[in-house]
Amino acid sequence: MMPPDCTSYETVAKKLTGKRVMLIGGAGFIGHNLALELSQLGADVMIVDNLMVNSLIDNVFDSQQKPAQRGVYLNFLLDRYALMREEKILLRNSDARLFGDLTQLFDSFRPQHVIHLAAIASSVSARENPGLCFDLQLITLRNILELCRLSGDTVEQLVLLSSSTVYGDFKTPSVDENVRPQPKGIYANAKYMAERLVRTYCHQHGLGVTIIRPSALYGERCISRRVSQVFIENALNGKPLLLEGGGDGRLDFTYIGDLVNGISRSLAFHAGPGRSETYNLTYGDARTIADLASIVKGVIPGAMLEHRPRAEDKPTRGTLSIDRARKYLGFEPQWPLEKGYKRYCQWYVDQWERVGRADNR
Ligand SMILES: NC(=O)c1ccc[n+]([C@@H]2O[C@H](COP(=O)([O-])OP(=O)(O)OC[C@H]3O[C@@H](n4cnc5c(N)ncnc54)[C@H](O)[C@@H]3O)[C@@H](O)[C@H]2O)c1
Repeated sequence: MMPPDCTSYETVAKKLTGKRVMLIGGAGFIGHNLALELSQLGADVMIVDNLMVNSLIDNVFDSQQKPAQRGVYLNFLLDRYALMREEKILLRNSDARLFGDLTQLFDSFRPQHVIHLAAIASSVSARENPGLCFDLQLITLRNILELCRLSGDTVEQLVLLSSSTVYGDFKTPSVDENVRPQPKGIYANAKYMAERLVRTYCHQHGLGVTIIRPSALYGERCISRRVSQVFIENALNGKPLLLEGGGDGRLDFTYIGDLVNGISRSLAFHAGPGRSETYNLTYGDARTIADLASIVKGVIPGAMLEHRPRAEDKPTRGTLSIDRARKYLGFEPQWPLEKGYKRYCQWYVDQWERVGRADNR
């Protein structure tokens, strides 16, 4: 495949204008940010989501949450819907495990690009509920693959959101897409099975497919409570930021804006039916948990750091090489941790204060 002329935003917009893109599991953290980006690039976007994760009702009735946290999450969810409504993005509340319902949506929208995001998006939660992990990742995928196959005259590309966890423990500081996956646990194995099934439909049925492997995302309106969010909330709640093993564990932290830019490029520059492409889409430079904590402390000086022994089964991670995405998609991440995470921390503090002001009224 030749490297495309794909450096400018205008080139990407030109390719995507008027394209019908369906995001399944698209009301979540990645999905709604991606929907906004694609819509701004000129695509017609439909989200299909059963709202089981990002549920307003669950948020309001979650007795584990502190009032401030509940208020902040409620605003995040309402802001997601308001932004999507302003962009005229279609949202259908539907479960992708139900073949009949999904068929109707495929028939009415006739998507040209389909993006599969539905999953339990956490390896810890997946381990607690392996049956549900299996259903949301693979039963949904079965329906999506079949509908893409049966709509072969309209669907040009299926994009699967996989994960950097498919690599398992990193044997080298950096991994590229040629490294053989050695997934561990139900989450990573379900992702790897999904990758293999997607490639099988490409080879046997000519479906154009793209597999995306992101890592450790952070950014606006996330309610998934990954370490990058928990650290900020702990600092704001006067709780310590726990540094296992001194915080020397490394992750390739990636700002959501960089990921959605890369996915948009993977749609714009896909090579067509019968082509299978796999991309790492990350910032491309693993950083330590201690680095993350020190940025929080820079924004919230009262943050307390507490050292803990390293957990024995902690995975060994590192950098995902993004050379392939650079070469074929013109992907160039814009948000190093010092810039992207700092901006996110400051935004989070503003959001916390916004809820505080509303409570005092
Ligand atoms: N966030 C990350 O750091 C990260 C990293 C690597 C990979 N991923 C993958 O990216 C994808 C999206 O992640 P996210 O962070 O946006 O997660 P998220 O939990 O915010 O969003 C997932 C969405 O899927 C929806 N969904 C689940 N089951 C569904 C079903 N049966 N039918 C319709 N909708 C359904 C949920 O309601 C939710 O809105 C997931 O596949 C995840 O595994 C995420």
